[in-house]
Amino acid sequence: MIDVRNPSDGFTSLRARIGELGPTPNDDRGADGAPLTVGEWVQLIDEVVAHPQRNTEALWNVATPEQDDREYDAIFVGGGASGRFGSAYLRARGGRQLTIDAWPFLGGSCPHQACVPHHLFSECARELDLARHMQGRLWFPAFDDKRASIAEIVELFKAGRSYPHAIMNWQSKEQLDMEFILNTPATVIDEHTVEVEGQRFRARNLVLCTGARTAYPDVPGITAKGVYDFASLIEELDYEPNRCVIIGGSKVALEYGSFFQATGCKTTILTRSPLMETASLHHVDTGLREYVVSMMADRGIEILVGAEVLEVLGNGHVTGVRYRTPDGRVVDIDTDFVFVGTGERPDLRMYSPLGLATDERGFVVADATMRTSVPSVYAAGDLLGPPMEMFKARKCGVAAARNIMGEHYEFDFTEYPDFLHTTYEVTWCGLSEAEARQRYSNVVKIQMPPDDADPETFALPAAEGSMLYAFTRPVLSGWLKLVIDGDSRKILGAHHVGFGAKDAFQYIDYLIRQPQGWTIDDMAELNELFLNPEHFIQLSRLRAGQRDLVNM
Ligand SMILES: Cc1cc2nc3c(=O)[nH]c(=O)nc-3n(C[C@H](O)[C@H](O)[C@H](O)COP(=O)(O)OP(=O)(O)OC[C@H]3O[C@@H](n4cnc5c(N)ncnc54)[C@H](O)[C@@H]3O)c2cc1C
Ligand SMILES: NC(=O)c1ccc[n+]([C@@H]2O[C@H](COP(=O)([O-])OP(=O)(O)OC[C@H]3O[C@@H](n4cnc5c(N)ncnc54)[C@H](OP(=O)(O)O)[C@@H]3O)[C@@H](O)[C@H]2O)c1
Repeated sequence: MIDVRNPSDGFTSLRARIGELGPTPNDDRGADGAPLTVGEWVQLIDEVVAHPQRNTEALWNVATPEQDDREYDAIFVGGGASGRFGSAYLRARGGRQLTIDAWPFLGGSCPHQACVPHHLFSECARELDLARHMQGRLWFPAFDDKRASIAEIVELFKAGRSYPHAIMNWQSKEQLDMEFILNTPATVIDEHTVEVEGQRFRARNLVLCTGARTAYPDVPGITAKGVYDFASLIEELDYEPNRCVIIGGSKVALEYGSFFQATGCKTTILTRSPLMETASLHHVDTGLREYVVSMMADRGIEILVGAEVLEVLGNGHVTGVRYRTPDGRVVDIDTDFVFVGTGERPDLRMYSPLGLATDERGFVVADATMRTSVPSVYAAGDLLGPPMEMFKARKCGVAAARNIMGEHYEFDFTEYPDFLHTTYEVTWCGLSEAEARQRYSNVVKIQMPPDDADPETFALPAAEGSMLYAFTRPVLSGWLKLVIDGDSRKILGAHHVGFGAKDAFQYIDYLIRQPQGWTIDDMAELNELFLNPEHFIQLSRLRAGQRDLVNM
C-alpha cells in the first residue's frame, strides 16, 4: 500500500522515490508533505505502467477515520469514464464514495487505449492525407509514404499518455475530493462489499463500471502474433506493419483503416455488412454514407463487402487472411498485420457472486436509473452495451450517483449526436432523410453538393481544414445535409462530412430535441462566424424567406 493522501513518513518516502525517477515534467515538484503535483503524478504513473512487476503496491487515497468516518454511499468498481464522473458527482452532492481501479490512474480506457489515441491517429491521418494530396504544390514537398511509421506514432502516444492520466488523478484528488485506490483490482464479495489488497470495504451501493473489450471473431488463427485490436495495438505492437487487413465495418474499422492507409500501409477492410450499416450506428444518412465510403475508396482503401473471414493464416506470425466472397469463392490476401474491429463485450466473471441479469449479447441489464437486477447494485458505461460513447458512460455514472443520493433521475440514451473519423470528421444527429420520409409527408432538404451538381466542380462546403481541397479538388471539400419537415419547418436531422463542425452538433442535437423543436427560421436567426464549417446558418437564412419550403 502506498498512501498518497496523508503527509506521513510513507508519503515522504514516496516523494523521495519519485525524485529518484528524475526531474518532474515542467519541474513542478512539491515540498514534502504537499500533495503530489501533476508532474509527480506523471512520473509515478509512467513508472508503474512501464514496470508493473516491480510496482505491485496499490496507490491509496482513502480518508482515515479521523478525516471521515461516514459509511460509504457507493463503491465504484472501475474508475474510467463512468466511474470517475459518477464518483465526482456523488462526492459533489455531499456523499461519500470510494473508486477502485486496476490501473494506476483514473479515466479508464479512453485516454489509455481508445478515444485519445484514436484522435491522435485521426489527426495524423488528416495531416498525412493533406500532405499527400498537396505534394509538390505550394510549400508541400514530394510525399514519401515510407516516412509515416505506425509504430513511431504509437510510441509517440505512449510516451505522452501519462499527461492526461496525471491531470485526472490530480484533479480527482485535489479538486474533486474523491477517495480512490488505484493499481489494484477490486474483488466483489457481495452486493455491499468489495475487497482490495486484502481489506474489505462496505457501502450502501455498488456501481459497476468496468467497461468492455474487443470480442474477437471465432476463426482459426485469430490469436496469432500480428493480430491486434485497439488496445493491443498500443500495448504490444513491436514491428512496422507493411500491409493491413481489417475485420469489421463500423467506427473502429473506418477510423483505424483510414489511419493505416494514410500512413502508406495498404489497407483492406473485410466487412460482412456494408460500412456504417451495423446495428450499433443509427440515423446514418445514405448520402453521408455514400460520400464517406467513396472518399475512403478514393484514398485507396480496398473495401470488400459481404466478406466472411474463414481463417487467419500464419506460421507463428500472420501471413494472410482467408475469406469467402458473397458469391462463394475462397480468397487469400497476403498481409503481415490484421486489425480486429468487431465490437466489444464486457467480462462479467468477477460479478458472479451477484447473479446479475444480462441480455442475450452478454451486457448487464439496468433500468433508466442504472439500477441492475440486484437492488443495491448499479451499472454504468460500456458494460451496459451500445452506444459505447463517452457522453453515455459519463452520464450513466452521474445518473447512478443521483439516484443513490436520493434523487429519482432517469437517463435515456436512445437519442444522441454521433460522429466518427475517416480522414474527415463525420458527424450527424436527428433523422436521416430516409427516416424522415417514413414519418413525415413533406420532407425538404438543404444539401451540399446538391444531388444534381457535379461534385468535382462544386467547391462547398468548405472552411478551415478543407480550403486547400476546395481550391484544388472540390469533391474532397466535404458534404452536408439538413433535413426539414416542410409543414412545421422544424429541423429533423443534420449530417456533415468535413472538418470543424463536430462542436455544432452537440448543440444542434440538443436544440432539435427540445419539445418545441428548432426551426429553419430559428437557425436563420443565429449569427454565423463565417466561414462556418457546417454552413447551416446561412443556408437556412437563404431559404427561410420561402413560405413553402423546397429543396436546395
Ligand atoms: C478505439 C476506440 C475509440 C473510441 N473513441 C471514442 C471517442 O472518440 N468518443 C467517444 O465518445 N467514445 C469513444 N470510444 C468509446 C469510449 O472509449 C467508451 O465508451 C468509454 O471509455 C467507456 O467508459 P467505461 O467507464 O464504461 O469504461 P472504461 O473507461 O474502459 O473504464 C473501465 C475501468 O475499469 C477498470 N477495471 C476493470 N476491471 C477492474 C477490476 N477488477 N477492478 C478495478 N478496476 C477494474 C479498468 O482498469 C478501467 O479503468 C472509443 C472506443 C474505442 C474502442
Ligand atoms: N465515437 C467514436 O469515435 C468511437 C470510435 C470507436 C469506437 N467507438 C465505440 O466503440 C464500440 C466498438 O466499436 P466497433 O466499431 O468495434 O464496434 P461496432 O460498432 O459494434 O461494430 C462491430 C462491427 O464488426 C462486425 N462484426 C461483429 N462481429 C463480427 C464477426 N464475428 N465477424 C465479422 N464481423 C463482425 C459488425 O458487423 P455487422 O454489422 O454485420 O454486425 C460491425 O461492422 C462502439 O460502440 C463504438 O460506438 C466510438
